[in-house]
Amino acid sequence: MLEISGVTRQFAGVHALSGVDMTIGKGGITGVIGPNGAGKTTLFNCISGILPISSGEIRFMGERIDGLRSDQISGRGLVRTFQLARGFPRLTVLENLLLYGADQPGEGLLQALVRSRASIRREEELIEKALTIAGRLKLAHVLDNKASDLSGGQKKLLEIGRALMRDPDMLLLDEPMAGVNPSLVREIGDRLISIAEAGITIVLIEHQMDLIARLCQHVIVMADGKRMIEGTFDFVAGNIEVQNAYMGTRR
Ligand SMILES: Nc1ncnc2c1ncn2[C@@H]1O[C@H](COP(=O)(O)OP(=O)(O)O)[C@@H](O)[C@H]1O
Ligand SMILES: [Mg+2]
Repeated sequence: MLEISGVTRQFAGVHALSGVDMTIGKGGITGVIGPNGAGKTTLFNCISGILPISSGEIRFMGERIDGLRSDQISGRGLVRTFQLARGFPRLTVLENLLLYGADQPGEGLLQALVRSRASIRREEELIEKALTIAGRLKLAHVLDNKASDLSGGQKKLLEIGRALMRDPDMLLLDEPMAGVNPSLVREIGDRLISIAEAGITIVLIEHQMDLIARLCQHVIVMADGKRMIEGTFDFVAGNIEVQNAYMGTRR
């Protein structure tokens, strides 16, 4: 589904990514782990079109996506979330979800004035979709709350919900459990499992190894801007080079 070949990215001479080769097949939850500074977030930024790559190729569903804008990439079904939740704190949960529905209605002035039957129908569909997603993420009871009033864990779920509003085929999640209360971490993990079961392929950057072990069928280890090794969690965790990479820069 996602093919990354020879991808490099430099920042003022520093190689954040130095030739990443990676293939991610359809289905399940793939974990991406590695010590701090390994290049995980930079890789997600490059895949999702936030950062241009310096060289290499990225393909999604067989087509080149490097060089496309991030909205074009998410429009093709490859959607990412951020390490720090974004969104609009002063809007409600429902409003935040609606804002991320693909091709929102009422964008043109004329449409806004006329409110055609089609645009009303489209709005109703979007609301329906937002309600379904909120239900799936157990956010239905806070739909009218301001995003800023949510707990840390609920904010993370809202971030995931906004991504789901784009109808992704593949979701890239950058540390969706970071800073979340341990009791909610398990809950978010359960939600990720049910999203994957619904047919959305998930790629998860996470540093909590127990979560990776629980959620991921396949784990890719990055170190020094490269893919180092991949396999089951037990396989990569038992690898001496992986252990050394973590020992060197552990935080
Ligand atoms: N915007 C940036 N400007 C300069 N250097 C950056 C930038 N983003 C990341 N880096 C560097 O790239 C390397 C990889 O960082 P990052 O992708 O954030 O790693 P990870 O997410 O695995 O912790 C680090 O050395 C980091 O300092
Ligand atoms: Mg990171």
